[in-house]
Amino acid sequence: MAAADPLVAVIMGSKSDWDTMRQASELLTNFEVPHECRVLSAHRTPKETAEYVTAAESRGIEVIIAAAGGAAHLAGVCAAHTLLPVLGVPMESAALKGMDSLLSTVQMPAGIPVGTLAIGPAGARNAALLAIAILANKRPELREKLRSFRAEQSRKVLRETLP
Ligand code: RP5
Repeated sequence: MAAADPLVAVIMGSKSDWDTMRQASELLTNFEVPHECRVLSAHRTPKETAEYVTAAESRGIEVIIAAAGGAAHLAGVCAAHTLLPVLGVPMESAALKGMDSLLSTVQMPAGIPVGTLAIGPAGARNAALLAIAILANKRPELREKLRSFRAEQSRKVLRETLP
């Protein structure tokens, strides 16, 4: 989704991250949260990444979700350029199963925070839900949608039957 006035930016270091990060985008779409998705890399496009993140707040963006794999600097670099909350999603890498991405994203030295989610699809989905929860603090209608989502999730678990 590329909304005219996005509230959430979903950025990722490579197009190869999209299969995972589309799950964040789909959840945001289901909650009707205007957002945009971009490929921007901390090391392959450092200047453009800094420019994009620096301009985000003035464009009305309220939360940035940043996904990267390997030596995953993206979320930390984003956080260095903005006061907006930055949620980091470590991608599952082929070599180290995402442990490299997780540690690179989560181990921010004190002073510049990144809210780091789980490795891979669970992290992508939870980043979207956390972004929605942040937005919902000042948007009662979004809070109600989140409440319904949780209730439906509970109903689904309670309906489960085992073989
Ligand atoms: C990171 O390197 C990306 O976020 C991706 O997870 C990883 C591999 O990128 P590609 O080599 O597939 O483009 O920057």
